Amino acid sequence: MSPELELATIAAREAGALLRENFGCDHEVDEMLTHDIKLALDVKSQDLIEKRILETFPEHAIYGEEGIAGNQESDTEWIVDPIDGTVNFFFGLPHFCVSIAMRQAGELKIGAIYDPMMDEMFTVDFEGPATRNGKPIRPSNRAELSEAVVTIGFSKNKESIDAGMEKYKNFAHRVRKTRMMGSAALALAYIACGRLDAYVEEMISIWDIAAGQLMLERGGGKVELSQSGVHSDRSGILSHNGKLNFDGLV
Ligand code: IPD
Ligand code: CA
Repeated sequence: MSPELELATIAAREAGALLRENFGCDHEVDEMLTHDIKLALDVKSQDLIEKRILETFPEHAIYGEEGIAGNQESDTEWIVDPIDGTVNFFFGLPHFCVSIAMRQAGELKIGAIYDPMMDEMFTVDFEGPATRNGKPIRPSNRAELSEAVVTIGFSKNKESIDAGMEKYKNFAHRVRKTRMMGSAALALAYIACGRLDAYVEEMISIWDIAAGQLMLERGGGKVELSQSGVHSDRSGILSHNGKLNFDGLV
């Protein structure tokens, strides 16, 4: 394992342990929005990850959901989602994770996604297959939409919900099952290991998807990012096992 990936896994495990310890407790809420919740623990988790990374690589940049740190001129950037699935976490639904990716000169190089409730660590290094708890993983072979299980996210505002509904209507009747699980990073990790076949969302941020994108692409899966139709700084995502065809549907 490269030193960079080892560091990412250490930081993700530490942040994950913090989340596990606080799971099911009362949470300090920083912001309660119409379709989102921001917790003090989001910031605490990012602080911990930032500290770990910058004590080893003080010259690198951090780009996280809770803000930036380090040397923003650096071409090595750590992309951090300190709790992906904050709403699940807040409601006591045990499906959330910590996601850390590193990119150099704009290219994703490594990623770690840790689910503290399942004690599952998904990783991808500079080379080689993505892994779950150290064992190589790969996406499913399902090639027919009628066999596929597809997960969707509706993001955080009315526009993204409306746009997501339109997409949902296009494919929901064509696939075996649909799911809305509440963590984009885990959706991608789950496709990378064959638990799910595809994931669609209208408005997503880089920290939600960076690590999972690299894991999925490494195994031959496809991640298609487009300009979000509802937010200029966000992407729309269609991702799948690399075998499915969503032409004209999403
Ligand atoms: C959210 C989750 C959710 C997705 C949202 C994301 P957060 O991340 O990944 O599944 O639908 O678009 O913003 O806010 O829990 O880190
Ligand atoms: Ca997120």
